[in-house]
Amino acid sequence: MGIDWLKQAVIQSEKLHPYIPGKPIAQMLRELGLSEQDVVSRIASTVKLASNENPYGVSPKALKAIQQTAIEAHRYPDGDCFELKQALAKKHGIHAEQLLIGNGSNEVLELMIRTFAAAEDEVIYSQRGFIVYALATTAAGAKGVAVPECDGFAHDLDAMLDAVNERTKVVCIANPNNPTGSLLKTSELQSFLDKLPSHIVVILDEAYVEYVKNEIADSIHALKHAGLVVCRTFSKAYGLAGLRVGYAVANQDLIAVVNRFREPFNVNSIAQAAALAALADDDWVIDKVGQCKAERTRLELALADLGCLAAPSFANFVLLQYQDSLSLVKKLEQEGVIVRPLAPYGMADIVRVSVGTYTENDAFLRALRKVLP
Ligand SMILES: Cc1ncc(COP(=O)(O)O)c(C=O)c1O
Repeated sequence: MGIDWLKQAVIQSEKLHPYIPGKPIAQMLRELGLSEQDVVSRIASTVKLASNENPYGVSPKALKAIQQTAIEAHRYPDGDCFELKQALAKKHGIHAEQLLIGNGSNEVLELMIRTFAAAEDEVIYSQRGFIVYALATTAAGAKGVAVPECDGFAHDLDAMLDAVNERTKVVCIANPNNPTGSLLKTSELQSFLDKLPSHIVVILDEAYVEYVKNEIADSIHALKHAGLVVCRTFSKAYGLAGLRVGYAVANQDLIAVVNRFREPFNVNSIAQAAALAALADDDWVIDKVGQCKAERTRLELALADLGCLAAPSFANFVLLQYQDSLSLVKKLEQEGVIVRPLAPYGMADIVRVSVGTYTENDAFLRALRKVLP
């Protein structure tokens, strides 16, 4: 009996393919076979462009809040994230009850999928959609339906509609999408939602929305669908990836149901304070997003010049096309630059390069020119 449940757990766990994150700098250096001393000495000169973080750091206001809150670390955090919810509600012109705050938007995505999809249910996502949708679906015991893209990069909304059946419970769409960088227009999304049965939960993952403020309307108000869940994060433009704060905006009845599945203190106090302060530092976010987009253009022009731009991107990364991408990634690592091969997404010839600071991008381009034949 004891062995049976263990076996069951093992069988279930074997269906899960662990998420492969961007390599931490020290790990990459150890993998090069360096001594611990050399690892330490090379950390500062290594450039990591593998996790779509904000390369400009933490906003000074958020940093101050982190320092001020650290002294309270012996206390449990506010399990309801009251102040952060109030600030987000004000920013978005919604009720605080429409918000669910998570330990990164990753947790929010998992909670949504776990709440609404179980065995026998289906979750639809793009084949090259964010990999966490597939992982969370398998973990929930539901069936994932991965729909191919139109041209290898853009969501095929018609094909996603065709995949809907009576078992469909959730559809996940990232806009802009990671890892393909593609963007759907607001009108395309609304016409998709118009054709979708209203009981289906649609997770619209807007982790990179700050980079497309000029291109699309604000989905929270522009899009209409009873089961629409808009997910956002403080990990990208807000520069707080290490603290893990993300949130969902949806109908308050839907949020109330998901909230029951949430761990009571899922967002720590330092993260809550930092997110609150970062929200109040709009100028910093706008400035850094502007710099990032200018650098993205510079990188894309350079890649196009080298004949290896895969497709334009609307997020904070660019896409490099190269036949032998895994060996290119290894060579770049030897030159002190970590980037992300997209082979786990079935894109064996594409490498995703997060936009860094001017200096980091220069280091990447220098290394690339050196290792390309
Ligand atoms: C499309 C997308 N959604 C969600 C996430 C998760 O972000 P976080 O959990 O840091 O909020 C990421 C992270 O890379 C992402 O690219």
